[in-house]
Amino acid sequence: MANSLDGVRSGDGAQGRSPSVLEEELCEVTRTLIHTRQNISSRNLVAPAPSAQQLVQLLDAAAAAPDHGLLNPWRFVIIPQDKRALLGEVFAEALIDRDAEATPEQIGLAREKAHRAPLLLLAIARLGPTEPVIPPVERMVSLGCAIQNMLLLAHAMGFGAGLTGGQAMNSPRMRALFALSEGEQAVCFVNLGTASKGKPHRSRPEARGFFSTL
Ligand SMILES: Cc1cc2nc3c(=O)[nH]c(=O)nc-3n(C[C@H](O)[C@H](O)[C@H](O)COP(=O)(O)O)c2cc1C
Repeated sequence: MANSLDGVRSGDGAQGRSPSVLEEELCEVTRTLIHTRQNISSRNLVAPAPSAQQLVQLLDAAAAAPDHGLLNPWRFVIIPQDKRALLGEVFAEALIDRDAEATPEQIGLAREKAHRAPLLLLAIARLGPTEPVIPPVERMVSLGCAIQNMLLLAHAMGFGAGLTGGQAMNSPRMRALFALSEGEQAVCFVNLGTASKGKPHRSRPEARGFFSTL
């Protein structure tokens, strides 16, 4: 299988098309947005967070994700400040469930994670039976796209954002706190705020390493 980009052709009709100035500018802005987004650790997120109006725009961006069958196969739950202690307890107890030997320091750290991000949302995939039948993996892709839409728009707004997951996501305690129904899966948290410090650019994989031509 060839994996050289030399000679790669796009579809019929795309050859020789001259983009308009507006399209060129849009491409440039979009490429910049995509390539400058970075995962910001929740440790490095401080206030201000997106406003209520900006949060609505972020959720609207999620709603623009590809969605085979138009099932809206995911949802988000905002965890306000006055509920963070509940989440912290779930993190702490989930750790103790997994590791009865966890030290008080480790338990404290697990608890503290719930309090870091100024704005915190849980992303939940809805993977139960559907009509029309759409495979769970496609619905998971839709959630990934929804999350990326949010991350990119948050980045364009000047905010920092990062994802957090981990073993607590599968804890029955998480399921209970978020009232997950059968078929729902907690996937990750979306942490939002303002980046308190810069981060070196991560070099991304080169295309030749992950594409080939049939
Ligand atoms: C579903 C999901 C869960 C993640 N959970 C964590 C996490 O628990 N801790 C963490 O440091 N990063 C987490 N990340 C972020 C990745 O570590 C990050 O995207 C990766 O290091 C690449 O960095 P970049 O996004 O800046 O390119 C998660 C990413 C995804 C897609």
